[in-house]
Amino acid sequence: MTRPPAALIGHRGCAGQYPENTVAAIERAAPHVDAVEIDVRRCATGELVVFHDAELDRLTAGTGLVSDAAWSDLRELTVLDSGEPIPLLADALAAAPAGTAVNVEIKESGVAADALAVARSADAEVWFSSFRPGVLESLRELDPDADLALLVADADVDGGRTVERVKRVIDRAVALDCVAIHPEIDLATEPGFVAAANEAGLGVNAWTVTDRADAERLLDAGVDGIIADRWDVLGDAARPSRS
Ligand code: G3P
Ligand code: MG
Repeated sequence: MTRPPAALIGHRGCAGQYPENTVAAIERAAPHVDAVEIDVRRCATGELVVFHDAELDRLTAGTGLVSDAAWSDLRELTVLDSGEPIPLLADALAAAPAGTAVNVEIKESGVAADALAVARSADAEVWFSSFRPGVLESLRELDPDADLALLVADADVDGGRTVERVKRVIDRAVALDCVAIHPEIDLATEPGFVAAANEAGLGVNAWTVTDRADAERLLDAGVDGIIADRWDVLGDAARPSRS
């Protein structure tokens, strides 16, 4: 296995610039990023759709749970009045050109097998992430070669942030056979976090970067990638390339 190749990862397809998690966002972000991050969940008729929220209300004219909605209805909705539809996972992966990897974040359990099957039939370089250890365990059972990353929110590291607690989070990702850990910004910038993760063989891709100050803070901390809402988060300096 290899580490995710991305240094700049467009969060929800650069949601700060384009209608989030749409094919248009992926296509428009792709020339500027190393990878795009997208969110996946299942609708009522079983299809895997690229959509962040559990409910339709924030992003569409629809209401209620995505999991209660049929694909025939979801496909009629557009995201943030952009005219861009909610994509199926397969269509989102097809929108990523060669050279642009896709970080598929799985939002719920019971999706791993189908997500893996879609990824296998797509001509895309995919790695999976999830906040849910069970999802990562399922993916590993199904595919010994899948590239996996554990998402960790700052609040998941309960109590203070001692070296022991940071180590515990990293140990959790190692136990899940991950190639990377995706920590929230404040966790990633905890002194010693990146070094400890790298020492354990994990890449570190931190989220969610919305401004230059956070991007620079993370690069100073030595992260392997930033998951950012804008591809121009570093201004004219463009990509935070490691090369
Ligand atoms: O994958 C990083 C980030 O997307 C996790 O949070 O809520 O934006 O999916 P969220
Ligand atoms: Mg996400």
